[in-house]
Amino acid sequence: MGFWKLLRGLRQLELHRLILALIVFCLLSMAFLAYYVSNSPKIKEAPPLPFSDCGGGGGVAGGGAGAGFGLGLGLGGEGGAQRSPLFLPPQAGRQRGGAAVRASDPSRTDPVVLVFVESIYSQLGQEIVAILESSRFRYHTEVAPSKGDMPTLMERDQGRYALVVYENILKYVNLDAWNRDLLDKYCAEYGVGIVGFFKANENSLLSAQLKGFPLYLHSNLGLRDYRINPAAPLLHVTRPNQVEPGPLPGDDWTVFQSNHSTYEPVLLASTKSSEALTHLGPHRALHATVVQDLGLHDGIQRVLFGNNLSYWLHKLVFVDAIAYLTGRRLCLPLERHLLVDVDDIFVGKEGTRMKVSDVKVSTHTH
Ligand SMILES: *[C@@H]1O[C@H](CO)[C@@H](O)[C@H](O)[C@H]1NC(C)=O
Ligand SMILES: *[C@@H]1O[C@H](CO)[C@@H](O)[C@H](O)[C@H]1NC(C)=O
Repeated sequence: MGFWKLLRGLRQLELHRLILALIVFCLLSMAFLAYYVSNSPKIKEAPPLPFSDCGGGGGVAGGGAGAGFGLGLGLGGEGGAQRSPLFLPPQAGRQRGGAAVRASDPSRTDPVVLVFVESIYSQLGQEIVAILESSRFRYHTEVAPSKGDMPTLMERDQGRYALVVYENILKYVNLDAWNRDLLDKYCAEYGVGIVGFFKANENSLLSAQLKGFPLYLHSNLGLRDYRINPAAPLLHVTRPNQVEPGPLPGDDWTVFQSNHSTYEPVLLASTKSSEALTHLGPHRALHATVVQDLGLHDGIQRVLFGNNLSYWLHKLVFVDAIAYLTGRRLCLPLERHLLVDVDDIFVGKEGTRMKVSDVKVSTHTH
């Protein structure tokens, strides 16, 4: 009897010891974890960029490589040579600009995008950031200042940003003279481009000149038959030779018009109604919704969108614009796998939903 008691006592003791050991082990590992988490560097920095076929290039578009969607759709394959002009704006009356355009210089600016958003909650701003993030481009967002402080653009002699994106281009054109001068000088000196969006609302004027530019905006239009201007230099991932027939979603499109040679249309559409826009001139059946400013006006290259990024083609053009304006430092290789959110495609909102014709646009281009 005494023996069994002793044995049980011993076992209990062992159990106690075991539990104690476990508790000590738990505490130690928690302490270790806490120490590790608080001391490890913030996981903010994006992993290194996939440079592959992107480096250098100096913004010469028209590569002949193929691309693939994750689903196996062939996307690329356009050759620079087969870019036959599809849209030739009337040359008569076009002014010739004389500004020198500096190319993006990798050694002088960091490969970071400066994004001016309307607010931290604005939809388009979030969409811009989402694209930058999914492309693994480094970026920095600022709420566009109505007045006052512009973020520091230079660190010693090095430019901190290789590209500037304005969610609302009016915030840029309406900058006070001091900041505007600061930004423009920076852009011209360091070969930094600007991407801007003009999203019309009920209060937008139907027709207006973009302040300070030889560029006119006509807003709140319904458009149809979207096409890509094969002569636009920025095209890279976007295939140039296609027409997307049918009406475009929404009646709040803005088109750009200019007779300055610095502006090259990127995307073009016809007006929905046949009455058209008499003030746009009788010859112009096609209106530019996205234009590329070649920098001949003031030495700064820009890409302007007359709508937001919801339309799928705009996302491609946006990515191409980033690549072009940064001299292909921030670019996606043509050979890549896109993660397509199936929800967006099959049950997306009307207008953003991918249709059979969209897929055909992506595939049938030769
Ligand atoms: C873009 O514009 C369309 C048409 O006006 C609108 O329905 C959509 O909500 C807008 N998207 C964003 C992200 O602003
Ligand atoms: C086109 O250029 C001429 C001057 O060459 C100018 O008077 C006219 O207003 C311009 N028109 C547009 C729509 O830009």
